[in-house]
Formats: sequence, C-alpha cells, structure tokens
Amino acid sequence: MLFPHRGLLLVQNSVALVLQNRCVNMIANLYHAPIGDGEKAVGVGTVGSSEAIMLAGLAFKRKWQQKRKSQGKPYDKPNIVTGANVQVCWEKFARYFEVELKEVKLNEGYYVMDPVKAVDLVDENTICVAAILGSTLTGEFENVKLLNELLTNKNKKTGWDTPIHVDAASGGFIAPFVYPDLEWDFRLPLVKSINVSGHKYGLVYAGVGWVVWRTKEDLPDDLVFHINYLGSDQPTFTLNFSKGSSQIIAQYYQLIRLGFEGYKNIIENCIENTRVLREGIEKTGRFDIVSKDVGVPLVAFALKNSSKYSVFQISESLRKFGWIVPAYTMPADAQHVAVLRVVVREDFGRSLAERLVSHIEEVVKELDSLRSRTAIGASHGYAGGTAAKKTEGEIHAEVTRRWKRYVESKRTGVC
Ligand SMILES: Cc1ncc(COP(=O)(O)O)c(C=O)c1O
Repeated sequence: MLFPHRGLLLVQNSVALVLQNRCVNMIANLYHAPIGDGEKAVGVGTVGSSEAIMLAGLAFKRKWQQKRKSQGKPYDKPNIVTGANVQVCWEKFARYFEVELKEVKLNEGYYVMDPVKAVDLVDENTICVAAILGSTLTGEFENVKLLNELLTNKNKKTGWDTPIHVDAASGGFIAPFVYPDLEWDFRLPLVKSINVSGHKYGLVYAGVGWVVWRTKEDLPDDLVFHINYLGSDQPTFTLNFSKGSSQIIAQYYQLIRLGFEGYKNIIENCIENTRVLREGIEKTGRFDIVSKDVGVPLVAFALKNSSKYSVFQISESLRKFGWIVPAYTMPADAQHVAVLRVVVREDFGRSLAERLVSHIEEVVKELDSLRSRTAIGASHGYAGGTAAKKTEGEIHAEVTRRWKRYVESKRTGVC
C-alpha cells in the first residue's frame, strides 16, 4: 500500500482498455471490417483524428519500407497522395515523419480531391492515397469508390499494391447512419485503415479519436509495443503513453446509450437543421452555397459579389451577436475563393439556425450602408487624401489584398 493511487490507476487502466477494445469492435463493425468469428478488430483510441492519422500513416510507411527492403529496392523517398484540401494534421504527418506530400490541386467549383488526378500522381514510392470523408473546408465526401476502382486498375497494370486510407474524422459518424449504401469503407478492398474523431459527430467532449485497420496484417507487428508492468500483457501503439480514460468511457457510454438508431436520429436532425440554415442563407440572395447536400452537416458559403466587402468582414461583424463563424480562403489552386462555414452539431437547433440567418441579414445590410457611405467618401478622396475616385477594380484589388493579410495571420482558424 505504498502507492495506493497506483492501484487505482491500474484498475482504471484495465477497465478503460476493455472499454476501448469494445469501442474499436463496434466502430470496425460499423465500417464493415472483415472480422471472422472469435476475432477481435484491430484499432486503438487516440487523442483525436490527428494522432490516429499519424499512426495510420506510420503503419503505411513501415509496410511500404518492409516490402521495398525485401525487394532490394530503395526505400528512402516515400510519398503520400492527398487533395490540397487535407487538414493540417496530414501536413504534420508528412513533415514529422519525412514523407513527401503530393497534393492534388483544387479548382474553382471543385473543392475535393479528383480521384483521376490522384491516381495519376501515384508512383512506386506512394505509401497510400488518403481520401477524406467530409472535407474540413466544405464537408463534401470524396469519391472513395471511384478512387478504389481507378487505383485497382493502376495496381493491376503496374504490379504495385498502393492502398487507401480514409480520413473519416467527421464523416465516420455520419455516413454509416444516414448514407448506409454509400461505399467508402472496408467494403472497398483497397481501404486498409480509417480514422474518425470521437469528439466530432461521435458526440464526446474533446480529446478522443479512433483508428481501425482492416486486418491485423495491415498493422506491422514491430510498431506494437508490449508492456507487462501494469499487471498483464498490454499491447500499445500510440504516440504518448498515459492519458485520461474519461473520453474512452464517455465514447463507450454514448455508443451503447444511443445505439445505431440514436446516432441516426441525431444526425438526421443535424441534416434537417442544415437544410433550414442553407435555405435561409440562399434566400438572402447574397451567397453561393459551396457545400453539398450529401456530406457533413455544414453550410459553407461564398459572397456572390465580393467587391463591396469580404466574408472576413461578415465574420468579424457576426461576432458582436456572439457568433464565431470562421472565414477562410480555399487551398491551391482555388485560393481566390473565400468562404464562411457553419458546422451544425446536435446542439444547433432550428431556432438557432433561424436566428443566425437573421443576424447574417442584419450584418449584410449594415455593411451595405457602410459601403455606400464609404463610396461617397472615396469619390471625395477618403483614401489617404487621394483625389481620384477609385474604380470597382481597384477597390476589389484592395479588398483582396486586405483579406490576404488577414487570412495569412489566421491560417490556423480551420480545424
Ligand atoms: C478531415 C479532418 N481530418 C483530421 C482532422 C483532425 O482531427 P482532430 O481534431 O480530431 O485531431 C480534422 C479536424 O477538423 C478534419 O476535419
């Protein structure tokens, strides 16, 4: 009894481990992992999707290196193919673990990874192609089924076996419940691992994510450590060691309390509230909606006419009503497009959606009237005493320059 707290930690650890494994089993089943009778799913609870992605990426890198070594081929230039719309954690993975990131550029009007271009970028050093189920920027689901098809053909032609990882940080707790026929998961043979954030639509407070592998062959043995000093053999494959078990317990509680039907009802509700919000924003006549109907329940929208004021000004003005609505520019090659984004979670009800629309209307009206006063000022040389009236083009260029400065200082605002 010298260290009574150690005993407590131990009990918590083994209970949390059991609950973690049960969560992994439920999630892997949800994603159609081919689990045989009596077999356990392969996966682990993480701090969020970021840690999950680091682990999945490491597993791909190690598998690819092992294969290249066994073939006597060089294994020092691994790369990973993604869309330019990936979340920053993929850039972190690439930089921290020395893997080249080959990004498929976007276009105006097409803000997800094009599977054809992605497969074109694949070469013998590609450790995997990462597709996103629910782009952070627009919520759109990438076409994993088409990617699987195209990559299967390329693998056949080349003799490579380039796999797919699905970053389902948000979509992993959406698609199974409301789009059960959408094939994006282990139903597709090349999908070898999937991550999901428990703290997004998994409905747990911040600090939990999951990564699951298709089979145990997809997670190289030598990445898994075995320790026995907590009383029994415990396999561990995480970046850190100790962490609180409360998120795991909360995730387990939500999974068994809500069940499939419970999650389905909540997500359907979010989708309905997203529709109300989207239609309200459309009715203002000022915005183009860039998010899609099928995807993460969110509304991403751009100004139809951005020569008068910017989405950044709208975002700033909405703060006085207590709204924090991020505004950001798209990645390459669509960086000239700037959008606002509202993510609809279970606590964002219909009345809040309606209130936000009316505040957006108010802000836009206010900016309109400010703009007409400024235009009068401009014609009288308001801009630092310049006598000449500014043309629409000059004002647009100036507004764009200001956005750029603003955005560059706020680049990490998208999570
Ligand atoms: C597509 C995508 N991947 C990964 C992440 C990182 O997730 P987490 O915050 O759980 O680490 C996010 C976060 O927004 C995301 O949207």
